[in-house]
Amino acid sequence: YTITVDPRAKGPAISDDMYGVFFEDINYAADGGLYAELVRNRSFEFLPADNGSYNGLTAWTPTADSGGSGSATTVNDDARLNERNRTYLKLDLTGVAGGRYGVTNAGYNTGFAVKAGARYDFSVWARSDNPTGTALTVGLTGAAARTLIVRGDKWRKYSVSLSSGRTVDDGRLSVLAAGGGTLRLDEVSLFPRDTFKGRANGLRKDLAQKVAALNPGFVRFPGGCLVNTGSMYGYDAASGFPRSRSYQWKDTIGPVETRATNSNFWGYNQSYGLGYYEYFQFAEDVGAMPLPVVPALVTGCGQNRATDDPALLRRHIQDTLDLIEFANGPVTSTWGRVRAKMGHPRPFGLTSIAVGNEENLPDAYWANFVQFRAAIEAAHPGFTVISNSGPDDQGTTFDNLWAKNRAAGVAMVDEHYYNSPSWFLQNNNRYDTYARSGPKVFLGEYASQDAKLFNSLSEAAYMTGLERNADVVKMASYAPLFANIDNVQWRPDMIWFDNDESWGSTSYQMQKLFMNNVGDRVVPSTATGAVVQPQPITGAIGLSTWATSARYDDVRVTRPDGTVLYSDDFNDGDADGWTPVQPRGSWSVVDGAYVQSDTSAQDTMVKAATIGETDYDLSVTATKFA
Ligand code: AHR
Repeated sequence: YTITVDPRAKGPAISDDMYGVFFEDINYAADGGLYAELVRNRSFEFLPADNGSYNGLTAWTPTADSGGSGSATTVNDDARLNERNRTYLKLDLTGVAGGRYGVTNAGYNTGFAVKAGARYDFSVWARSDNPTGTALTVGLTGAAARTLIVRGDKWRKYSVSLSSGRTVDDGRLSVLAAGGGTLRLDEVSLFPRDTFKGRANGLRKDLAQKVAALNPGFVRFPGGCLVNTGSMYGYDAASGFPRSRSYQWKDTIGPVETRATNSNFWGYNQSYGLGYYEYFQFAEDVGAMPLPVVPALVTGCGQNRATDDPALLRRHIQDTLDLIEFANGPVTSTWGRVRAKMGHPRPFGLTSIAVGNEENLPDAYWANFVQFRAAIEAAHPGFTVISNSGPDDQGTTFDNLWAKNRAAGVAMVDEHYYNSPSWFLQNNNRYDTYARSGPKVFLGEYASQDAKLFNSLSEAAYMTGLERNADVVKMASYAPLFANIDNVQWRPDMIWFDNDESWGSTSYQMQKLFMNNVGDRVVPSTATGAVVQPQPITGAIGLSTWATSARYDDVRVTRPDGTVLYSDDFNDGDADGWTPVQPRGSWSVVDGAYVQSDTSAQDTMVKAATIGETDYDLSVTATKFA
């Protein structure tokens, strides 16, 4: 097999920004993940209607100390903090002198991860009807407790910092009140001082650093299915608890206590503490281009709805124009002023926006997209408005939307596909035949699924095809980015974490390699000779090179943490799906062991059934008898 490279020939230039990241709040990627807030359900807004397992006290436990007593209830009445943060915690205090009563928060995963020597900033909105005020003691596992005095029956923000003497990963935060009367609390917050780049309301450092280490050219956000699904209406105080809203940027900015909680497509609540301002700031902090996705008013991801309300469509188009002003407008503009007030007078330099994600109704999508595009381009000539090719089509081009995109001269089309490792290997040439003029490709979501390390190798092979076609494929991002190990809706994922640790998958390491070593230009090459296509083992796990003439017993498939996912002692007389690849000898189950009787070769044994889990580096072991 011969590869001929002509160093004088000039292939397409590869942009430094070709590879980026796609952040979606899936798998608890925001609250309990990248957003550094440690308190879960800090504003007591969780409702059974959001998720059957929720109520106002989700993650909170009423707690008494030294004979304290009372009742802790979550209340939505006219005493609320504000119209968007409607429910608060009401503590009616009835305890003996010296006693305290209140609540304890369990945080995420195993609890609060606190580090010895680190500082934590606590804040709470509170009001007390006790004429002498209420002493509120804030306790954090490992830290000396601090006491605040809440005075007056008007909402005020109180803050105190705590210093941890111990490192724990299962801490708790308690807020306990002394005396009598009624104390109301809301927006109970605890942040590590040490956030990424030291930002207030900032991001968890280890997770943000892992993204920064990828050196991303762009950050696509906030989704994904999250963007388009749910109600197309925004927050409306008059209707009380409008939930399951599509992701609308105006819901996510301003003081955090005024950002209404929303329940998202992935089955859990989002506080929007990580909102549009924070996304823009994060993109800037990692040196990446921000790339927002706005809802197109046509749903995808299994929800087939399109708006027939022209006023609603006009409102969303205006919201998108306002978003551009929020990002780029001068501080004298309406939305530029809001950005400046939040702490960033300089523009964020937004140049591109994507309209929609994986819409199932192509005609309805197109009708809306053209209106978004016309309005954006009229107001901002030169702005890149990105369209898409429809739902995850597993690599099959949806001609319907591509044809429309081409005919309309759209700048860029977002494609998504999740497929098997073998598909990625066999489709390395996908873009070789794409038209060289017309819309460019933004590969906004892709990942090889099934067989772990082999996934990453097949992705790497595929990315050589993206780079070879860098004149057509302008941007690409693996998906999804994050997964909290205790709350997984989708796998595989690139960066995994619990409350105090994080680690990259093999695909993370592979992306890091590519993203930090982007070439300047393709050097054309030709290859001659017989191409031997690798034969991937799809949906299988294996133990390589089982020995010749051997007997095996007790095959185990184990996660890195030692958990045994699957074991087989062969005592039931059959091989339960274990088969040799390219069998050269005869195999059988004899006396509760798997026996290889061939003396001439070693084989790779695989279990052809998926064991249901592909995101760990699984190891396979067996006891071998000669
Ligand atoms: O990345 C996970 C999901 O896959 C995204 O939300 C969606 O766009 C795609 O179907």
